[in-house]
Amino acid sequence: MVVKVGLLGLGTVGTGTARILLDPLERHPLIQTVAIARVGVRSLDKPRQVTLPDEILTTDLDSIVTDESIQIVVELIGGLEPARSLILKAIAQGKHVVTANKAVIARYGDEIFTAANAAGVYVMLEAAVGGGIPVIQPLKQALGVNRIHAVTGIVNGTTNYILTRMQQEGGDFEPILADAQRLGYAEADPTADVDGLDGADKIAILASLAFGGRIKLSEVYCEGIRRVTAADIAYANRLGFVIKLLAIARRDVCPISNQHLDQLQVRVHPTLVPQGHPLASVNDVFNAILVEGDPIGQVMFFGPGAGSGPTASAVVSDILNVAATLHSNQGPTSVSTAPNPLLACIHQH
Ligand code: HSE
Repeated sequence: MVVKVGLLGLGTVGTGTARILLDPLERHPLIQTVAIARVGVRSLDKPRQVTLPDEILTTDLDSIVTDESIQIVVELIGGLEPARSLILKAIAQGKHVVTANKAVIARYGDEIFTAANAAGVYVMLEAAVGGGIPVIQPLKQALGVNRIHAVTGIVNGTTNYILTRMQQEGGDFEPILADAQRLGYAEADPTADVDGLDGADKIAILASLAFGGRIKLSEVYCEGIRRVTAADIAYANRLGFVIKLLAIARRDVCPISNQHLDQLQVRVHPTLVPQGHPLASVNDVFNAILVEGDPIGQVMFFGPGAGSGPTASAVVSDILNVAATLHSNQGPTSVSTAPNPLLACIHQH
């Protein structure tokens, strides 16, 4: 059986995803069982970084989510609408969804997962947090038996790049932001990154996975890096700290009973990090997520938090996880695939 995929969006991540799926290198045995059936784009005339047959391209994104031959819809258009509506429509059509859209999941996760549970389909979101870093699956699966106390992350590459340069050059925020924009490290409109909103979306998702329930964005304290000055960084250094924009979800433990205290703190803000702390040396556009729990202790995930190839790596891993389950439900195929317990976890989330 060939699993047919409909891609919504052929931007940076969509192009990276198509490249992996079309790569003749045998990266993974399941790739040969997955085919890109349709690709939704904004304009048919734009030059592309990946070669696809003209006939599978369309500007009619609705026609992809309603296409009966497609089993997995991969949403990579970003933004809230029409992404949310297309995801919900795909689910209503009985399609599995893979998305990199942290903004939609952070705001509409409840609605989307409720719809997915009712329809019996999977919604996969590894690429929504940490780009290429596998963190969603480990939180749900490999760390699933742990009682998580805290998830602390550098989850925004743009701000980490700016703070790293401020730290290394002793420069102020505004000129380094302008330079980062000129070099393509920061968006023309940097608001979501520098004001911490991107980090808030991501920590709301991580906190929901780590602690259960659903964290409302309105409950996440959010402060960005605009007010951090070169003097702040210099004073922090003198005291043995660096300044990082941390996204933190923490449930404190009572020192007497060892029980979790009720209140969960979820916040994003510039933080003094001791120079010897593992997060202090995470520089440039890299991301890292430190998970603390019982009995595991501390685990840190580190890697490229954005970019075409890394984010596409996470998207394709989700596609292949769904494909593996579809194949195992179909009985033996030419490729050996074990049922994937992760899917059940995400599915029930
Ligand atoms: N703007 C984001 C960042 C991209 O700078 O980390 C990845 O979500």
